[in-house]
Amino acid sequence: MNIGIIGAGNVGTGLTKHLIARGHAVMLSFSLDMGKLNATAAQLGARVGTVAEAVQFADVVVLATPWNVTPDALSQTGSVQGKKIMWDSTNALKPDLSGLAIGTTTSGAEEIAKLAPWATVVKAIPPFAQMLHSPSMLIGEHRSDVFVCGDDADARSVVARLVGEIGAQPVDAGPLALARYVEPAAMLLVQLAYQRGFGARIGLSLLHEPPGSAPQGAPA
Ligand SMILES: NC(=O)c1ccc[n+]([C@@H]2O[C@H](COP(=O)([O-])OP(=O)(O)OC[C@H]3O[C@@H](n4cnc5c(N)ncnc54)[C@H](OP(=O)(O)O)[C@@H]3O)[C@@H](O)[C@H]2O)c1
Repeated sequence: MNIGIIGAGNVGTGLTKHLIARGHAVMLSFSLDMGKLNATAAQLGARVGTVAEAVQFADVVVLATPWNVTPDALSQTGSVQGKKIMWDSTNALKPDLSGLAIGTTTSGAEEIAKLAPWATVVKAIPPFAQMLHSPSMLIGEHRSDVFVCGDDADARSVVARLVGEIGAQPVDAGPLALARYVEPAAMLLVQLAYQRGFGARIGLSLLHEPPGSAPQGAPA
């Protein structure tokens, strides 16, 4: 699959490493320092392009930009023919990481869908970049769960497959509006990692019975 990544920072390059290892072709874009971007891409075996070129190249566009520059990045796509799946990996953090810039009555994902009407947006916030760049994606014996939200079931399953390929465990969470609650959960992890001393090798895990196997008499 061709993957076009907007934002070649910690997350963009971490995802690139895993996706190239799984046989995908990756084009990186969006940097203030094209020399650095070219060197990084060469090291990872990725291509480099403008944002518009990365979107054009892509079967799936990955958005991996800091929230405050996301509108700028999306303004550089040019006109996009047809619909493209967008894996939104962003979190709408304030620049100082003190909280979310947006939330609960809408979500970063829903705002991105408004900014990029060409995109079938699927929210899936990956594990911390330190994990993506580390030798193992496992915490103990466990993969981190990644909640996958989007209004198009086929697009959700495409992104879920990619989430699995980076070494995380996708959880199909249904519609894009669920991102309103997924994004604050990611903020909780940021706080625990950086303010509460847990460090970045943490993730979420959803405990659940297999569908239909709830014990008799259990509340619905
Ligand atoms: N870091 C994590 O562990 C983590 C985990 C899950 C989700 N997220 C989310 O993923 C997104 C990306 O995070 P990150 O940690 O990868 O960010 P990052 O390392 O700061 O990378 C941001 C990228 O955007 C580029 N960029 C920033 N401002 C720009 C501008 N004005 N013009 C052009 N390029 C610009 C940077 O390019 P240059 O520096 O090369 O100029 C860099 O390639 C964020 O929304 C974050 O909340 C992060």
